[in-house]
Amino acid sequence: MQGSIFTSFSDMIIEKMGMSVWNELLEKVNPSSEGIYTNGMQYDDSEILAYLSELSTMTQVEVPTLIRNFGEYLFIHLLNSSPAKILNIDNLKDFLTCIDGVIHNEIKRVYPDAYLPSFKYEETPEGDLIMFYKSKRKLCHLCEGLIAGAAIHFEQSISIGHPECMHNGADKCKLVISFKE
Ligand code: HEM
Ligand SMILES: [Zn+2]
Repeated sequence: MQGSIFTSFSDMIIEKMGMSVWNELLEKVNPSSEGIYTNGMQYDDSEILAYLSELSTMTQVEVPTLIRNFGEYLFIHLLNSSPAKILNIDNLKDFLTCIDGVIHNEIKRVYPDAYLPSFKYEETPEGDLIMFYKSKRKLCHLCEGLIAGAAIHFEQSISIGHPECMHNGADKCKLVISFKE
């Protein structure tokens, strides 16, 4: 996974829990990177999963919840670092609809080493947006958090359903986003 994701993760821990907690995580995980990450470089996914698992033991909060919270924190950092110019999008639904074909597509062009998830979209007659998420990483809880972060950014109140999940044996995750007035 991209160094920028790791940098945001360590920033979040230091900001919300303090330097001592980050140092404790480094001591427990003992990562080969020594906890120093560079944007644009790739690091092993297992490193972030190891931090999350230690953090879960330390805080008694389940890993999926930790991942969701991280996604919410991560969103604005990703947005600010985006090479794709998405400034002219002013609403959440249009924004979510262009993640796959525009935003992640651009990431892939700039960083050919990046592995990105795939999203397929549908819209229900009620106006809900369905996002089918597929990735070897099964980070659907990160999606939930990122979408929640995007909703805050666009000042749009939403609810997110997750009726089908790769963690329960489905071949893709189904995320249903309902937009409130
Ligand atoms: C609500 C909006 C977004 C969602 C739901 C989303 C979803 C995801 C997920 C789940 C991953 C983890 C990789 C995987 O699942 O295989 C990911 C990775 C990534 N996304 Fe997004 N994303 C969003 C917005 C953005 C934005 C605005 C950017 C702007 C630059 C971005 C750039 C990236 C990058 C750089 C990675 C890491 C790729 C790698 O590790 O090689 N994403 N995204
Ligand atoms: Zn899922």
